[in-house]
Amino acid sequence: MQKDTASQLSKTTVALHWIVGLTMIGLLAAGQAMEMFEIYALYPIHKALGFLIFFVIVARVAWRIKNGWPTPVSQYQRHEQVLSKIVHWALIIGTLLMPISGFLMSALGGYGVDVFGWEVVAMNPDPENPGKVIAHNGEIAGAAHSAHGLIGKIMMGAVALHIAGALKHHVVDKDGTLRRMLGKAV
Ligand code: HEM
Ligand code: HEM
Repeated sequence: MQKDTASQLSKTTVALHWIVGLTMIGLLAAGQAMEMFEIYALYPIHKALGFLIFFVIVARVAWRIKNGWPTPVSQYQRHEQVLSKIVHWALIIGTLLMPISGFLMSALGGYGVDVFGWEVVAMNPDPENPGKVIAHNGEIAGAAHSAHGLIGKIMMGAVALHIAGALKHHVVDKDGTLRRMLGKAV
């Protein structure tokens, strides 16, 4: 498979970045809307897409480990290099932790996980309380719920910094960082 070079990123890196990145932005926004406005219609699609994207995320992490991180397009100041490293690590670790915590909260909370009609984990209804569920492990489900909320907030901050950084490269530095992630040779 083609590898990344300093002047051009491989099709694999570009495709995985945008499939995972845009899906994560959608899921962060949907999750936030679900919590703030109690939009229950979004829950099944959020859970199903979050479950499915996990497999692409694992492929992406494996590709990063095998291929290494892309080398910067040009020389930047030390603090910029450190900040971008921290943000890239936060983003890649966050992409792993969000689906795992979401899955654990729903599965162990008794709500189940259904992926477009494929019942991955069955719901555990409470026979004495119609419409309610019984948790398999309320403690772990509760911790996973808190983690999902907290890591979600951290990711939103990291994504905002990341997009600001990409725009700074493009508009202020006028370098090829963004164009390279769009598949162009720089
Ligand atoms: C893959 C990436 C995912 C992202 C980026 C994501 C993001 C979010 C965010 C930001 C929230 C709002 C949390 C808060 O404000 O407290 C949320 C809520 C939620 N997420 Fe996810 N999520 C993902 C995957 C999943 C998965 C795989 C599941 C379950 C299978 C799931 C189930 C839920 C549920 C049930 C809620 C609502 C919790 C509540 O109403 O209290 N999420 N998600
Ligand atoms: C509109 C939104 C986005 C833009 C414009 C954007 C832009 C970029 C650019 C230009 C790079 C290359 C940086 C370099 O050459 O050092 C990059 C890398 C990266 N981006 Fe994004 N990005 C976006 C969304 C996201 C999101 C939501 C995530 C996280 C889920 C993400 C995760 C990463 C990671 C981990 C890298 C390091 C290289 C890699 O693993 O592919 N990006 N991004």
